[in-house]
Amino acid sequence: MSGIVGTLIRELTTGESSSRIPEPDLVMDDPDKVSAFVRAGREAAIVAPTYLFHCSHICEVICPGETVVDLACGPATQLGMVAQMNPNSQFIGIDLSEGMLKEAKDHIKELGLKNVDLKKGDITDLSQFHDNSIGAVFSTLSLHHLPTVHDLESTFSEVARIVKPDGGIYLSDFGHLNSEKSMQHFAYQHRERQPELFTIDYLNSLRAAFHLADFQRLSAKYLAGRARLYSTFLIPLMVTIKSPKRGQVELALTQKLAELRRALPIPQQRDLKDLISLFKLGGLKSTLLV
Ligand SMILES: C[S@@+](CC[C@H](N)C(=O)[O-])C[C@H]1O[C@@H](n2cnc3c(N)ncnc32)[C@H](O)[C@@H]1O
Repeated sequence: MSGIVGTLIRELTTGESSSRIPEPDLVMDDPDKVSAFVRAGREAAIVAPTYLFHCSHICEVICPGETVVDLACGPATQLGMVAQMNPNSQFIGIDLSEGMLKEAKDHIKELGLKNVDLKKGDITDLSQFHDNSIGAVFSTLSLHHLPTVHDLESTFSEVARIVKPDGGIYLSDFGHLNSEKSMQHFAYQHRERQPELFTIDYLNSLRAAFHLADFQRLSAKYLAGRARLYSTFLIPLMVTIKSPKRGQVELALTQKLAELRRALPIPQQRDLKDLISLFKLGGLKSTLLV
């Protein structure tokens, strides 16, 4: 069975229930993997549609003037994009990898951004932030790097503690699929337009993804009444926990996002359209990117 339809049918009908296999690189310190990940988000543009998608949602949960934390910011490709669009907010990106933080510092400098600080820190222990002190928190493509469900629980508990009661929350990551074959389908589907190291990293990410049931349990326990859980249609290839829209959404923001969308290569524009549709059918949509 091949192709997306086959994968959907397999996921929905299989008796298989694969276990998660933690990432071989929990903290991303290997220089080759760091640079493959950076390239995939920037010039090679494989991850660019995903960043644009998340950016539109993150912008909806941020209010001007507040402090926003990016949990496990990596090379700050996502963080830089969001910070550029929200010049009146102050951003703090934290990550445990020195190599990623170096990439992040260079990127933020290159963008000329003055509203971003980068710090070494562990997302399972946010003791550097006081209770109810943060306006909004976001995290993209990172939670599967945590070794255990217990670490995921610590992160959710810390998010609930540091974000103000009416603050913004946007946590998005891969969800665990039932079958190894399905994971291979998604990892390899665009192999001709992504570096091999990125394909392997993507497969490892899908294997390490937490199960939807864990996201559901932890978001009900820690974020009930503050954020809602959504997943992609039919199968949880991606899972997002998002608080309601906050503040005013400016027309300028919609225009900037539309410009970035038009600048994507055609295959990536198609990927973005698919992502928007898959989440829309799962109940999640952004008014900034339709
Ligand atoms: C795949 S990258 C994603 C980076 C970024 N959020 C993005 O969307 O491009 C995952 C990042 O999580 C970081 N990481 C893993 N475990 C962490 C932890 N416990 N605390 C902080 N960062 C962590 C890794 O070093 C890596 O930079």
